[in-house]
Amino acid sequence: MGRTQVAIVGAGPSGLLLSQLLHLQGIDSVVLERSSREHVAGRIRAGILEPGTVDLLLQAKVGERMLSERLVHDGFALGFAGRSVRVDLKGLTGGAVSVYGQTEITKDLTDARMAAGAAMIFEAREVAVEGIDSRPTVRYLQGGRVHELRCDFVAGCDGYHGVCRQSVPRESMQCFERGYPFGWLGILADVPPAAQELIYSNHERGFALCSMRSPTRSRYYLQCELHEKLEHWPDERFWDELRRRLPASAAAGVTCGPSLEKSIAPLRSFVVEPLRFGRLFLVGDAAHIVPPTGAKGLNLAAGDVRVLYQALAEYYRTGRENLLESYSEKCLRRIWRAVRFSWWFTSVTHRFSDDPFNHRLQLAELDYLAESTAALTSVAENYVGLPFK
Ligand code: FAD
Ligand code: PHB
Repeated sequence: MGRTQVAIVGAGPSGLLLSQLLHLQGIDSVVLERSSREHVAGRIRAGILEPGTVDLLLQAKVGERMLSERLVHDGFALGFAGRSVRVDLKGLTGGAVSVYGQTEITKDLTDARMAAGAAMIFEAREVAVEGIDSRPTVRYLQGGRVHELRCDFVAGCDGYHGVCRQSVPRESMQCFERGYPFGWLGILADVPPAAQELIYSNHERGFALCSMRSPTRSRYYLQCELHEKLEHWPDERFWDELRRRLPASAAAGVTCGPSLEKSIAPLRSFVVEPLRFGRLFLVGDAAHIVPPTGAKGLNLAAGDVRVLYQALAEYYRTGRENLLESYSEKCLRRIWRAVRFSWWFTSVTHRFSDDPFNHRLQLAELDYLAESTAALTSVAENYVGLPFK
């Protein structure tokens, strides 16, 4: 039987970052991941980092490549009714966001963990968590054998479909959920971005987003039907539809090219309460999901990791559990604010039904935003990320 201080289930950004920060505090962990290292490295997901997330990556000593390769964005554009309004993040809040792909963060973290000789077990199947009220054990199957890992704590960093949340009795938790009747169809292409900054576009045909990974790599999204099929979206159809949904100046800036990746993601808001069950802590997407419109998912995950690693460090240094006890409450406050912002941003930019009244209300809200520094400041403040308390 193996033994570690913290068993971390999931090698997404939450699990990897937590293990790296614990390592720097001299705390031992083992990361158990269901998929292969290549599969984890290949998932194209988030792209926008709040300054707080950048700081945490620097604290974790995995920020060097990010600092040299990231693009710093001082603002973004909101397109609607043929207009384009700039949200001046820097001018309104003094802050800015960084464009740096989740794939790169995962690579930087995996490289750092490997270099430190960390225990990372990929392709760990049938992970099961037991004894969370007193002496936790994590069991898993690997190489045809069942292994057991004893630990002081379990960090459930295993995403929305993970096993950790499911191993807690349903009656001990409360789940809050909102589904949206659409998804995002995303493509990645090695073409220069349509503009220097991101463009979020409200259009009668549906929402569109122009994002990027570098000056030569673009990431675009289109609102699509929930059950849309990828095979119905050859590249040409995607590019045509994208240009139709953007303000004219942005559409003119779109360079088309073959897609490197194409995928569909459903949109959902989900929160579980509490985040702590005895010696099990839920972290990141395992505990909460937001629609990607506000670019908050990865940043929220990093926020949870920050609170948990500090609480564990305090526990191992002093034996005090007060920070572990306040983990749930502290994180949930921040989570619900991000859930609210992501829901709001989704609701003003997406097409919900054929209800023309609703569309007029959205336009009125965006028109108000365009002319109110107070309203724009609120958007900018949330987008850049609310301060840690
Ligand atoms: P995950 O990345 O889901 O990692 C969980 C890991 O656990 C996975 O590797 C999984 O294989 C593993 N696992 C699952 N089950 C088990 C098991 N039973 N045993 C062992 N391992 C298991 N966020 C932003 O902040 N900004 C953005 O711009 C942004 N854009 C996004 C765009 C899209 C299209 C999508 C889908 C998401 C976006 N997000 C964004 C959200 C962001 O990608 C997630 O919030 C982030 O990946 C959460 O990290 P995590 O480590 O908590 O979970
Ligand atoms: C991305 O680049 O993948 C991205 C950017 C902004 C969002 C969501 C996703 O709001």
